[in-house]
Amino acid sequence: MNQEVIIVRGNHTLKGDVRVSGAKNSALKLMAASILGQGETILHNVPLISDIELMSEVLARLGATVVREGHTLRINTADVDSCETPYELVSKMRASISVLGPLIGRFGEARVAMPGGCQIGARKIDMHLVGLEALGVAFDVDHGVLAATTPNGLRGTHVYLEFPSVGATENMLMAAVTAEGHTAIENAACEPEIEDLANMLNAMGARVAGAGTSLIEIEGVPLSTLHPCEHTTVGDRIEAGTFLAGGALTGGPLTVHGIDPAFLRMAIMKLRAMGCDVETGDDWITVRREGPLFSVDIQTLPHPGFPTDLQAQFMLLAALADDVSVITENVFENRFMFAAELMRMGADVTLDDHHAIVRGVDHLEGAPVSSTDLRAGAALVLAGIVADGETSVHHLEHIDRGYEDYVGKLASLGADIRRVSADSLR
Ligand code: EPZ
Repeated sequence: MNQEVIIVRGNHTLKGDVRVSGAKNSALKLMAASILGQGETILHNVPLISDIELMSEVLARLGATVVREGHTLRINTADVDSCETPYELVSKMRASISVLGPLIGRFGEARVAMPGGCQIGARKIDMHLVGLEALGVAFDVDHGVLAATTPNGLRGTHVYLEFPSVGATENMLMAAVTAEGHTAIENAACEPEIEDLANMLNAMGARVAGAGTSLIEIEGVPLSTLHPCEHTTVGDRIEAGTFLAGGALTGGPLTVHGIDPAFLRMAIMKLRAMGCDVETGDDWITVRREGPLFSVDIQTLPHPGFPTDLQAQFMLLAALADDVSVITENVFENRFMFAAELMRMGADVTLDDHHAIVRGVDHLEGAPVSSTDLRAGAALVLAGIVADGETSVHHLEHIDRGYEDYVGKLASLGADIRRVSADSLR
C-alpha cells in the first residue's frame, strides 16, 4: 500500500473543542468479552481505528459476525464454533490474546498463537498463564501456539498477581466469570478500562465486584445464564491526554469532551505542576497556559499512577520546559525510542537506563521523523505543530492503530496539517 505521510507546519496553536473517541484499550476487550454473550452484543462508541478492524477479523475467524454501523458494532457470537486464533492474526495485533480468557470461559479450551514482543518491550504473558492456571487451565505450547484445556473444569481461586498487568487481569476476569465458585484477584490492574469491562460482564449476567480497585472478586455463574447486552465504551483517556498535552504545549484554551476527568487525575496534576490551568466538568477537561512551562519529574506506573501511554507526550512538554525534568519509565523496558526522534528536532534528552533526563530548550526545529509506536507517533505530530518550520511524520500505521481521524481533529483545533502520499514528496 502506498505509504502516507503527515505534513505539519510549525508555530501553530491548538485551541477549541474536540470530542475523543471510545477507548481503544477498552473496546478491544469488550469485543472479546462478547464471546461469552453467545448472541448479539451491541457496542457503542467504538473508535474507527485499524486495531478494531483486526479484532473484528479475529472474531470472524472464530465464527462470529461483526457488523459496523458508524461507531456501533453489532457482534453476534451465537455461532462461534472455533477456539483457534492463528499467528497471522495475533502477529498483527498482540491484543488478540484477549480472546484467550473468554474462549476458555465459554468452551473450556482455546488455541491462541503466542504473541510476539513489539517495539516497546518483550510483552510477556507469563502472568496471564499463571493466573489462568490457578483457575484450573492447563497450557501446552505447541509450535508457537498456546493450547489451553481445562481437564477438571474452571474452579474459583485466589490469585495474587506479581504485577498489576492489565491484560492478565482482563483474561483472568473473563475466564473466572464462569468458574465454579469464588475467585479473588489481588494486585489486580485498576485501569478504568478494567472497570468498563467488568460493567459490561455484569450487564451480561456475570457477578464481578471491585473492578477498578486492586482486589477484584468474582462469583462464577453457569455459562447458560450469560447473555448478550448493549454497552457504551468509555472515552479514551490516552487520546484525551494527548490532546490536552497539545493544548498545554501551545497555550490553548483546549477542551476535550467525552471523557471522565477522574480517569486522568495524575496527568491533570502534572499539567498543573507544569504551569497550566486545568478546569474539569462531568465529561470534559479544559487546559490553558499563559506563563512558562515548568519542568517536572514523572514516574510512569500502573493506574492510578502516571500512564506510560502519555510518557512521550509529556516528554515533549518537558523538552520545552524551563529547566531539567527526569522521566522514569517503569512499565515497559524499551519505551524511550521517541526521545531519539525528538532529539533530531533539537530536544536535549539524555537516556540512562529507565530514566530520561530532559533539559528544556527554547524551541524545536521541524524535521522528517518516524513513528516508532502508537503514542510516540502521536507525540511527534504535536512536536511538529509547535516546532519552527515543517515536519513530516512517517510510518503512520502506528498512529492509525489508535487514533481516529487524528489529522482531522488536530486541523479542527487550528493545526496546519495534512496527510499526503509519500510519493508526492519525491
Ligand atoms: C495494556 O497493555 C495496553 N494495551 C497498553 O497500551 C498499556 O501501555 C498497558 O496496558 C499498560 O497500561 C491494551 O490494552 C491493548 P500490561 P498490556 O500487561 O495489557 C509486563 C497503547 O499504547 N508483563 O499491564 O500488554 C509487560 O511486558 C498500549 O495503547 C509481563 O511481564 O500491559 C509490560 O512490561 C501500549 N508479563 C508490563 O508488564 C505478563 O504476563 C505491563 O504490561 C504481562 C505483562
